[in-house]
Amino acid sequence: MGNKNNSTIFFCKECGFESAKWLGQCPGCKEWNVFVEEPVVKKGKSYIREAVNSVKPSLLSEISLEMEDRIKTGFEELDRVLGGGIVKGSLILVGGDPGIGKSTLLLQVCRMITNDNKKVLYVSGEESLKQIKIRANRIGEFNNELSLLCETNLEVIEETIKKYKPEVVIIDSIQTMFKNDISSAPGSVSQVRESTNVFMQLAKQLSISIFIVGHVTKEGVVAGPRVLEHMVDTVLYFEGDRHASYRILRGVKNRFGSTNEIGVFEMQESGLSEVMNPSEFMLNGRPVDASGSVIACSMEGTRPILIEIQALVCRTNFGMARRTAAGTDYNRVNLLMAVLEKRAGIQINDCDAYVNIAGGMKINEPALDLGIILSIVSSFKNRAIDSKTIVFGEVGLSGEVRAVSMAEQRVAEAKKLGFKVCIMPSASVENVKNCEEMKIIGVRNIMEAIDYI
Ligand code: TYD
Ligand code: MG
Repeated sequence: MGNKNNSTIFFCKECGFESAKWLGQCPGCKEWNVFVEEPVVKKGKSYIREAVNSVKPSLLSEISLEMEDRIKTGFEELDRVLGGGIVKGSLILVGGDPGIGKSTLLLQVCRMITNDNKKVLYVSGEESLKQIKIRANRIGEFNNELSLLCETNLEVIEETIKKYKPEVVIIDSIQTMFKNDISSAPGSVSQVRESTNVFMQLAKQLSISIFIVGHVTKEGVVAGPRVLEHMVDTVLYFEGDRHASYRILRGVKNRFGSTNEIGVFEMQESGLSEVMNPSEFMLNGRPVDASGSVIACSMEGTRPILIEIQALVCRTNFGMARRTAAGTDYNRVNLLMAVLEKRAGIQINDCDAYVNIAGGMKINEPALDLGIILSIVSSFKNRAIDSKTIVFGEVGLSGEVRAVSMAEQRVAEAKKLGFKVCIMPSASVENVKNCEEMKIIGVRNIMEAIDYI
């Protein structure tokens, strides 16, 4: 859409949508007030063509799938999200809120890779060498040398990478990098795109892996990582509740693996440590025999995670009933409450309802439906559900409980953590084998599930 006669162009700083004139709402991502004016970059959109030119065609039969092509990061959680380790020559974007732990994670990765005798370059545009040293001292001993560079000028960084030839490069953060011949400020959409483009070419030409850090920005003029998602090979988001110590690394895009894997970490005094058994972690401190609390099982990628759903239902004091959903979809909760009212005859239209996924996890899997329904019923009737029971199943509009995938893995995870009863879709029961110690209750609709509890 860019008009080449104009010397400036408008960009959406959320998704990178371009427009010749200012718009109140972005047609791309539907956000309001996100357009910023920037000078036209003389190369325009040529980054796509250049990236293609630097790649030679390969013969399918000659492509090796040897795992040596991947560098192990030392974090199993991160390796799994990456699809088995860092692919050589790939560009990986690590996005997340400021202060969530991106620099810490990547510095720890540097530590483990350098200990593995690999050459790593950490480029920081945000912190001084001393600050990085202080952080490095917190996370532990570096057996081998890690090279640090405090620099924001893209040409200098490019030359250094070419001369020094590291196997892995960290760019922290992309919003501080700038190219001299672009007149807009560092962090602007054109600078961020151009820098990413340069790193993409470097990664492909030199066959090195580059991590770029991108801060998610709610407001301000700095372009967010979403602008770059389509340009890089892999997009990971590091998220978590500021008040909780655990962090979740989520794959959003991955050209070299599945995208629905998550890695769970905990922020400690000496950096991040992996959480190998997230279910145990999530269920820590849950109330026993409290009404409104239900344990459900959700699949995150190939891994089942048990989580606690909490509901609080009480008569409303005002005309309009209030509903909130934390950690899950608000509209879905409203829909499930309507199903409950219509199909199970439970009068909750004049009740306030608050539904919360404990621990700050965000889950939108339909398999949580039955758990949400039962937690609402449990709170409404003020009757606790047995604490050794887990629940999963998708609920349809007629109140039917529909089959979900990977039922066996879910039951196995529950069994491992000492659960005794499982309420699940009857259509999925036949997929579950070897679970003698588990009492399996197959239900066809929400009435049967409610009757059981
Ligand atoms: P940081 O990696 O600087 O975040 P980002 O690069 O995403 O902006 O993480 C900063 C936070 O992590 C800060 O609040 C302090 C905390 N932290 C620890 O709790 N333990 C540690 O060992 C380290 C290095 C940081
Ligand atoms: Mg940082």
